[in-house]
Amino acid sequence: MTRSENAPALVIGATGRTGRGVVAELLRAGRPVRALVRDPATSGLRADVELVTGDLTDPASIDRAAEGAQSAFLVWTAPFATAPAVVEALARRVERIVLLSSPHQTPHPFFQQPNRLAVFHAELDRMVIESGREWTIVRPGMFAANAILWWGSQIQLGDEVRWPYGAVETAPIDERDIAAVAARALIDGAHVGRDYVVTGPTPLTQAEQVQAIGDVLGRRLVFHELTPDEFRAENPAYGPAANMLLAAWAAAVGVPAYVTSTVEKITGTPARSFAEWSRNNAEAFDRDVIAPA
Ligand SMILES: NC(=O)c1ccc[n+]([C@@H]2O[C@H](COP(=O)([O-])OP(=O)(O)OC[C@H]3O[C@@H](n4cnc5c(N)ncnc54)[C@H](OP(=O)(O)O)[C@@H]3O)[C@@H](O)[C@H]2O)c1
Repeated sequence: MTRSENAPALVIGATGRTGRGVVAELLRAGRPVRALVRDPATSGLRADVELVTGDLTDPASIDRAAEGAQSAFLVWTAPFATAPAVVEALARRVERIVLLSSPHQTPHPFFQQPNRLAVFHAELDRMVIESGREWTIVRPGMFAANAILWWGSQIQLGDEVRWPYGAVETAPIDERDIAAVAARALIDGAHVGRDYVVTGPTPLTQAEQVQAIGDVLGRRLVFHELTPDEFRAENPAYGPAANMLLAAWAAAVGVPAYVTSTVEKITGTPARSFAEWSRNNAEAFDRDVIAPA
């Protein structure tokens, strides 16, 4: 079956960091977009995006949302239980599935630490590959956007970032570049059956990343090195995720970051630098955006 280009791409996670960019890339390419949202009233998506209400925990809603769609972008951010039924629903309805996964197969110590999410991603990869539909898997390394989650409030409040493993390198990727690769895979059959590990263009230590944000803000930020125990004690909200992160950083000490040129190969444009990402997201770190108490 080949549906016309006029059939929409269904974007799951369309209000998220990556999905919003996938929507934008598809619209830029003149493709119709259907966005799965949990709350249409708060989606903030453009009026020319068709909104369908649904939830990954409710496979019947995914079945309805995918009807008549040509392809689907799948990002999983829900409990794991309904994943098989959701992939089955998509496979019944669409010709092509593009999955956002992670580089759990990449033989670099940073990606090889025991991690519940990696085990789930491996299962999800298998389900999509065995779905009988065309598939592409996109595997981003470290999201640049983690910097907001990790350091945003510290930088809003002062000039010190308290964090462990300042010397560990990663190659943070701008979420717009992940989205650009995923959108190419939705549009272009040349990417069917391909598996793409995507990273930012340049290795940077965590301390250099903090400094790059400071440069954009015109502030001198100080990286205050924490021990793993201090990190756990100062960040109780991370729970078990703290140990997962600490294990990945510990394993990567002294190892050059894993860098690919996949973004440029797929999109024709070099991956955006961390400095560019920081300029685009400066507001998230700015003291002036703190809401008054
Ligand atoms: N952070 C990293 O360094 C990294 C690296 C590799 C891979 N990943 C993977 O990337 C994925 C996260 O991508 P992201 O950062 O772009 O996502 P995100 O910004 O967290 O956005 C999540 C999206 O999923 C939607 N969503 C959440 N729960 C849902 C549900 N039950 N049903 C339907 N939609 C739901 C949210 O919609 P609402 O507006 O309704 O909340 C939102 O649009 C994860 O699978 C993660 O493992 C992350």
